[in-house]
Amino acid sequence: MSRLITGIGELVTNDPTLGDGSLLGLITDAALVIDGDRVAWIGRAADAPAADERTDLDGRAAVPGFVDSHTHLVFAGDRCAEFDARMCGTPYDGGGIATTVAATRRADDDELRALLAQRLGEMAAQGTTTVEIKSGYGLSVDDEARALRLAREVTDETTFLGAHVVPAGTDRDAYLRLVTGEMLAACAPLARWIDVFCEPASPHAFDGEEARAVLTAGARAGLGLRVHGNQLAPGPGVQLAVELGAASVDHCTYLTATDVDALAGADTVATLLPGVEFSTRSPYPDARALLDAGATVALATDCNPGTCYSSSMPFVIALAVRELRMTPAEALWAATAGGARALRREDVGVLRVGSRADLAVLDAPSFQHLAYRPGVPIARALAV
Ligand code: NIG
Ligand code: FE
Repeated sequence: MSRLITGIGELVTNDPTLGDGSLLGLITDAALVIDGDRVAWIGRAADAPAADERTDLDGRAAVPGFVDSHTHLVFAGDRCAEFDARMCGTPYDGGGIATTVAATRRADDDELRALLAQRLGEMAAQGTTTVEIKSGYGLSVDDEARALRLAREVTDETTFLGAHVVPAGTDRDAYLRLVTGEMLAACAPLARWIDVFCEPASPHAFDGEEARAVLTAGARAGLGLRVHGNQLAPGPGVQLAVELGAASVDHCTYLTATDVDALAGADTVATLLPGVEFSTRSPYPDARALLDAGATVALATDCNPGTCYSSSMPFVIALAVRELRMTPAEALWAATAGGARALRREDVGVLRVGSRADLAVLDAPSFQHLAYRPGVPIARALAV
């Protein structure tokens, strides 16, 4: 069954060989044909072939569905009191993660499944079509494996984050042995990636050498590497991620010039999460330094109950443009193709023949409205 989507006033393809030849590969008065879950044809509406079904977007813009490459969606409870305290001056240090671990362990599978479905529904309603999901609120062998099993029911992009924090009352070295031993063995078959909260500035998280041990054990178990790094202070996360060939280092809030140079010369994507700086009242990362040096930048929500309880990629795009001084085109690319690079995916974040037919439709004539109309729900995933 083929389906023609036509009447697309402005189509962002992210393929510079298409349309206007820019980074976004813009086609005006565009159409595409979807066959199954793939793009079968793309071009000007006037040239479109016939198809079994036809949907007319009446001049709306369409963009590749957002690729949210960093989320922590498997959790129960919330931490609005911690947010309130933070807005009254208490800084974030990762200590609140223990609250979410306790609430998540108490919840049964069906409760967690329902919460996950609700959050994914919010995301689709705002244009997100690919989601990475981390564990990290279980911190025991069974609870981490359970989180990944639930995440795997809804996405291929699952990440083992047993090394989120050292659980209260647990010996650090013993916990590291567990994470790199029995827990990794139970979780590796359920995950594509391994991640670590590498943050010597937090008493709860892991230093550079501990993070190296986690990542090298993960790589030996066949997992791709991701790092939470340089969120609370300058630190070893970025250099370690680049040295070990991680797909992405996420946060990058506090970067030195050496960090920027390392990212500029590496395949490791710098994933910026400005919803976190917004919700923790922290300084924003220097996206311009990264972009001007030639680093690949992605944008993601980090949706989690502690540092950013927002599932909205359009909100992140608006922050990136207004606060990180990214251009609207750079921000859209980072939220789509950039996220795909951070997940080492070539089939999403782009619209070309053979790619997944993941589209976000905008109730607006141009992608620029994503940042121009902050807080207005103009984006939604096209149901296929
Ligand atoms: O990406 N920084 C570490 N982990 C999450 C926050 C987790 C939490 O506070 O619950 C983050 O910001
Ligand atoms: Fe995170």
